[in-house]
Amino acid sequence: MPVIKVHDKEFVPYLSASEIEEQVKRVASEINRDYEGKKPLFIAILNGAFIFAADLFKHITIEAEISFIKLASYKGIKTSGKVITAIGLDADLHRREVIIIEDIVDTGKTLFHFLPQLQHQHPTSLKIATLLHKPGALLHPLKIDYLGFNIPNKFVIGYGLDYDGLGRNIKEIYQLV
Ligand code: IMP
Repeated sequence: MPVIKVHDKEFVPYLSASEIEEQVKRVASEINRDYEGKKPLFIAILNGAFIFAADLFKHITIEAEISFIKLASYKGIKTSGKVITAIGLDADLHRREVIIIEDIVDTGKTLFHFLPQLQHQHPTSLKIATLLHKPGALLHPLKIDYLGFNIPNKFVIGYGLDYDGLGRNIKEIYQLV
């Protein structure tokens, strides 16, 4: 099996480009079916979701908008928990059908803390589409509405996902050995 080295770690092929494409198309067709006539607003979370978001959006055939945000997390001054803020959230979510696009839901911590901020704007609906999900790592209750693949609790790179900055441009998804 072709092993690749990124920084100090070795990775082996896990999902091929055609397997990914097949599931991206399937997720897009589910969304096309569910949002017919609803003009949803996709919000893609950078950096990791940029490739999934672009490929998914190409297969969206209904009227739809897309916007991109970056999440920054910092420690709250008086609270012990992490505070997550969105950079670049310029769209008005009020009465919109919103679909978050994520690359991977691992512990669920990021979205669990961030979604309430979007709920404050009273969207009509707020759903999550993620390419990958590690059910074995989930620590926060989170409902995933559209899913590409459930994967084991192992670190992966490629198709937008990185290991310390590298690996995002790999067409396939590789798994840590
Ligand atoms: P969560 O908050 O634990 O669900 O983690 C979400 C974020 O962690 C993702 O959006 C990724 O940026 C990063 N992440 C989690 N698992 C992996 C992985 O296996 N490879 C690359 N990035 C990951």
